[in-house]
Amino acid sequence: MPGAKERNTTRRSRSWLIVAIGLVAVFLALPWLVRALLWRWEQSPVLRGRQLAAAQGCFTCHLPDGGTEIPNPGSRWGTVPRFRAGNAMMYASNRDEVEQFIRFGAPRVWLDDSAARARLASQPLRMPAYGDRLSDQQIADLVAYATAAEGVDLPAGDPADAERIAAGRSLARARGCTSCHGVEGSGGLPNPGSLGGFIPGFRGRNFRDLVRDRAEFDEWVRTGTSSRLAKNPLVRMFWRRQTIAMPAYREALEDQELDQLWAWITAVRTESPAP
Ligand code: HEC
Ligand code: HEC
Repeated sequence: MPGAKERNTTRRSRSWLIVAIGLVAVFLALPWLVRALLWRWEQSPVLRGRQLAAAQGCFTCHLPDGGTEIPNPGSRWGTVPRFRAGNAMMYASNRDEVEQFIRFGAPRVWLDDSAARARLASQPLRMPAYGDRLSDQQIADLVAYATAAEGVDLPAGDPADAERIAAGRSLARARGCTSCHGVEGSGGLPNPGSLGGFIPGFRGRNFRDLVRDRAEFDEWVRTGTSSRLAKNPLVRMFWRRQTIAMPAYREALEDQELDQLWAWITAVRTESPAP
């Protein structure tokens, strides 16, 4: 029979063991927790909509393999429209009609017109109606994504600045900013080895931590880095490990172009305020 003293020692070493296992578990889970938090901060309706579009199979028809539009003989324009081609206006003239496409598979004006209904019935490919499959919140996210991807309307920024915002948006596409930073700066595209595991966009909360003001934005775009963040050894470690890095555009962009990009980013941020 063990004495009272011995029993106490066993109990004490057992509780130490539990504390030690707990600490190791927290330490091992830390990278995962950091990623989960950064991912949460990155969220916006456009990013949620993009993920949902991938999960719902929208890209099967709208971003087909090989990059050319799928022929759809007999349909209104002869093909399935490709997202980002800027041709949404041939189908939907505003946000409401985009929503009607997603809910009903066609806008009301088509469904109310017998010739259009006959055409829809004859074409091989039809836009499925998602209205009964998805919640209102999910539909709203898909509308946010689709309108952003196709540039149906400008982000709701300062109306007096509309020209610069529009110029900034086309520039961001033409220069490839949005291929890395996501549709309309929605972020979240993979970047293995980086702290969050993804490329941050311009909408979520992470942007606020990475870019404090216009001067820091200019520094990122011209040099591909931030001297403030470079002071942190942990940040530098992840910069070395990450697969994709921010390019240094140096003089490849003019001051006026940086003004336009900044105007667009400011508008995008007004539209999706950080949580
Ligand atoms: C089976 C193929 C198919 C799938 C899957 C599909 N669509 Fe479509 N979609 C079409 C076709 C075809 C049209 C063009 C309308 C026509 O000609 O009848 C269209 C039109 C649209 C339009 C209006 C035109 C435009 O480019 O803005 C939107 C918006 C749209 N789809 C969004 C979506 C979303 C969001 C999803 C996923 C939730 C989706 N589609 C899934 C075939 C598809
Ligand atoms: C090859 C992909 C790529 C391209 C193209 C690219 N970036 Fe980046 N960008 C990155 C990566 C990766 C980071 C790093 C984020 C980090 O280190 O945490 C970054 C960081 C940034 C940041 C600061 C972080 C944040 O929240 O976004 C800004 C601002 C930025 N880029 C703007 C631009 C602009 C404007 C353009 C186009 C002129 C552009 N980027 C083009 C990959 C890219």
